[in-house]
Amino acid sequence: MEIIRIPRIMREITKNLKNRAKSIGFVPTMGALHDGHLSLIKRAKEENDITVVSIFVNPTQFAEGEDFEKYPRDLETDSEKLKKIGIEYLFYPEAKILYPNGYSTFVNVENISNKLCGKFRPGHFRGVATIVCKLFNIINPNRAYFGQKDYQQTLIIRKMVEDLNFDIEIIVCPTIRESNGLAMSSRNSYLEENEKKAATVIYKALLEGEKLLKSKIKPSEVTLKIQEILRKEPMIKEIQYAGVYDPLTLDELDEKTNKYLIAIAVKIGDTRLIDNMLVELN
Ligand code: PAF
Repeated sequence: MEIIRIPRIMREITKNLKNRAKSIGFVPTMGALHDGHLSLIKRAKEENDITVVSIFVNPTQFAEGEDFEKYPRDLETDSEKLKKIGIEYLFYPEAKILYPNGYSTFVNVENISNKLCGKFRPGHFRGVATIVCKLFNIINPNRAYFGQKDYQQTLIIRKMVEDLNFDIEIIVCPTIRESNGLAMSSRNSYLEENEKKAATVIYKALLEGEKLLKSKIKPSEVTLKIQEILRKEPMIKEIQYAGVYDPLTLDELDEKTNKYLIAIAVKIGDTRLIDNMLVELN
């Protein structure tokens, strides 16, 4: 595995590979790789000739007061995991190269960026869309892989790809969970043991929501039930949102339909956790 730090060199490599008709699968990450990331990387490896993974803790997607400084960084462990899977390239750029002094161009996917997480993390999705756009321009992959755990992010990236005419296939892979149902996330490392245990209520609430929707209970009532389940867990300090939403517009749903998104964002201690489930009725 080669580690590339300079965008111009990364671009030359992938350009040459594409000229030789090699397909490129790309997995953008912020590092602290867990089994969720590894499942995306394995899938990219299966479906492409060459796999590129990026590790970059993107400063523009963290709002003032968020965890940018303390976000876990461990290049050595991450590199070992990547070498074991056998990817070809790790792109590991420095912030000052991607955002030099005077940097002033941002990508804003309007409307859906302001809902759900966007309400609580101002500027977050503008930062995500900007860095993913930059990485796509540098690497120019055939396919890019994202986890369903960040459902809103996947929706925003798909919209950006469509609106800005990128010729890149976006592939969304299932959420990988601990055996107790907790969705894997780099931020789980902030949780104490008792907090981790409490966090399993999120998956329990999603499962209950799914069950109720499948038994044709009105989405607005399911939302109330999900919130009630979460409120019963004393370690949950804040419920930012929890309920049943339209999977395309992210608006809260009152009436029955056949495709639902159940989405939850809560704070346990200072740790913000998100999770979601798509429910389709036939
Ligand atoms: O999901 C993430 O880890 C990040 O938001 C991403 C897509 C790597 C952009 O920084």
